[in-house]
Amino acid sequence: MALVEFLAELDQLARAATAAFAAADNAGALESARVEFLGVRNGRLKTVQKGLGKVDKTDKPTAGKRFNQVKRQIEAAYQAAAESLAETAAPIADTTGFDPTIPGNRPRLGHLHPITQTIEEIVDIMGRLGFTVAEGPEVEDQWHNFEALNIPPEHPARDPLDNFYLATAEKAAGGKVWLLRSQTSTVQIRVMEKTAPPVRVISLGRVYRPDTPDATHVPMFHQIEGLLIDTHVTMADLKSVLRLFGMSYFEDDVHIRFRPSFFPFTEPSVEIDMSWHGGWVEMGGAGMVDPNVLCAVGYDPEKVTGLAFGLGIERMCAQRHGITDIREFFKNDVRFLQQF
Ligand code: PHE
Repeated sequence: MALVEFLAELDQLARAATAAFAAADNAGALESARVEFLGVRNGRLKTVQKGLGKVDKTDKPTAGKRFNQVKRQIEAAYQAAAESLAETAAPIADTTGFDPTIPGNRPRLGHLHPITQTIEEIVDIMGRLGFTVAEGPEVEDQWHNFEALNIPPEHPARDPLDNFYLATAEKAAGGKVWLLRSQTSTVQIRVMEKTAPPVRVISLGRVYRPDTPDATHVPMFHQIEGLLIDTHVTMADLKSVLRLFGMSYFEDDVHIRFRPSFFPFTEPSVEIDMSWHGGWVEMGGAGMVDPNVLCAVGYDPEKVTGLAFGLGIERMCAQRHGITDIREFFKNDVRFLQQF
């Protein structure tokens, strides 16, 4: 082979290789260009090298020298391309430590507590029956928690062992007695004191009793109180409202059973049992508002009558979801809470 021919082949290879390395814009492309030109077995440089053997003997030193130059040139071009690729990739990895191939951290989304969900549902159901929501304070005086509710001073419901009396608040108020409300019936009084009949309200919230915690008791729990005052309100209305309410909440044919009972602020008074999927569960108390209570807030018991009821929210929620221990509601164990 003539020397000029060999040298021309070398020049062409050098141009092609330099262009290919410069054009490679990612590691994969650069690697296939490297294999194409510098590959140990079938690289194009290797092929051209084979032609070196066919060059005339006298031209061999010149041809060999030129071959080595071109080989270094191509290798240098590869190095340069590899370095510039590494430079563009490196800063991302080094300065932020961000690796786009690692799966993301899924944020754990929270949701409303089952008791809050139950409260919202109850508000919705009772709203459809025309009841608006009233609120009252959790720290109460004796008038609203007892006296106005027809609970006289000597009544056992006032026993310090059955109530959370607040000694510090009493001192601060110059001897006036305060306690954490033991029932939401306090809100009946607060609403009636401010509004003339007719009244149709519910009140939902926390109540406090020094009970020893067990599967069905906790010292702080939630009640829904209902109060309807109008002309000609009867026990039949009470049962209808409770049945409609029960059927809406349990989304089923719920039956209501009244058992005779006693509350100082209702006459007659009943315990409410609800039956859903067999068996009766006690849900709370109810009755016709006692005339003494109507008088205490300035209503005329000859003109208006009323119904009132109080139900345990934990019990209703537990019943619907098959929860057997209401203490679960307050442990804040995500494994429990995330089921709702
Ligand atoms: N307040 C009563 C209780 O906590 C329930 C109740 C409310 C009873 C309204 C009658 C009327 O047990």
